[in-house]
Amino acid sequence: MSALKTAVGNVILENPGMVASGIMDETGASMVRMLEAGAGAVVSKSIGMEPKAGHANPCFTEVEGGLVNAMGLPGPGIELFKEEMEEAVPHGNIVGSVAGANAKEFTSLAIKMEEYGACAVELNMSCPHAKGYGMELGTDPAIVKEIVSVVKSAVKIPVWAKLTPNTHILPQIALAAQDGGADAIVAINTLKAMVISPEFAKPFLSNKFGGLSGPAVKPVGVRAIYDLYKVVSIPLVGVGGISNWRDAAEYIMAGAQAFQIGSAVLTDGPGVFGKVNRDLEVFMKDYGYGSVKDMVGVANE
Ligand SMILES: Cc1cc2nc3c(=O)[nH]c(=O)nc-3n(C[C@H](O)[C@H](O)[C@H](O)COP(=O)(O)O)c2cc1C
Repeated sequence: MSALKTAVGNVILENPGMVASGIMDETGASMVRMLEAGAGAVVSKSIGMEPKAGHANPCFTEVEGGLVNAMGLPGPGIELFKEEMEEAVPHGNIVGSVAGANAKEFTSLAIKMEEYGACAVELNMSCPHAKGYGMELGTDPAIVKEIVSVVKSAVKIPVWAKLTPNTHILPQIALAAQDGGADAIVAINTLKAMVISPEFAKPFLSNKFGGLSGPAVKPVGVRAIYDLYKVVSIPLVGVGGISNWRDAAEYIMAGAQAFQIGSAVLTDGPGVFGKVNRDLEVFMKDYGYGSVKDMVGVANE
C-alpha cells in the first residue's frame, strides 16, 4: 500500500492532495486533467441553483504572497453542471461543492450532486465576497448547524463543511457543524481582503473587497487546523497556501487527514500534485512515517 493513501471518513484517497474548489474544476475535462495530474480528488467549483455571471472585471489580482479574487461564485447552475459531473465522475473522486443561500437551497444542491455521482458534498459556507452566500451564513453557529443537519438528513454521501477564517469563533462554528452531523471540516477559505489603486484612489476590484489566498495565508490555515484538531472529533481537511511537501506536512502534522491545493495550481500548474506527492513520500520515508495517518496531528502532541 502506498504511504500516501489516506481517508477522510469513508472517502478513500490514493493521494492526500485534492484540488480546492474554484481552480481548474468547472468543466468535466479540467477535473479529469487534475485527477490525471495526481490529485486524490477534485472538489468542483461551488455550484449554485441558477447560472451566475459573477462579479465584473477586475475580479482578480496578484499581491505579494498570494492572490486576491472576487469572482463572485460564477457558474453554470446545478442543472447544467450535470454533464460536467458525468464526464468527470468515472475517472475518480469528485467532491461536489455547493453554495446555497439557505438550508433549502443547500439541500436541493446536495441532492443533485449525490445524483450526479459525487463521492461527498462540500458546503461552501465561507466565500467572503458573494452577498447573501458563504461567509454571511458561515459565521453564525446556529445557521451552520441548521444547514448541515438539514443536508445530512437528505443525502447519504458524506457532508463536508468548508469554513471561513474570517471569525474569532472558528472552534464554535466547527462544533456546530459537527453537532449538525458533518462528516468532515474543510478549512480555510480565503481571508477577506482589499487592494487599493493609488492612481485611481479607489479599490482595485470591482467588488471592492475579495479573498486572499496563496502562500500568505498558510500560517492562518495551519493555525486553524491546529486549533480545530483539539475541539472536533471528525476528520479535518487543510487548505490555504499549499504548494510543496513542506506546506502539506505542516497541515497534516497540525491535524489534517488530507489537504487541498488551490492557488498553486494557477501559479505552478497541475504538475504541483505530482511534485507534492513525490516529495512528501520521500520526507515520510526519511523520517519514518509509514502512512499519512502516522503523521496526523503529531505537532499537537
Ligand atoms: C480564483 C479562486 C476561486 C475560488 N473559488 C472558490 C469556490 O468556488 N468555492 C470555495 O469554496 N472556495 C473557492 N476558492 C477558495 C479556495 O478553494 C481555497 O479555499 C483558498 O483559495 C485557499 O487555498 P489556496 O491558498 O491553496 O488557494 C477560490 C479561490 C480562488 C483563488
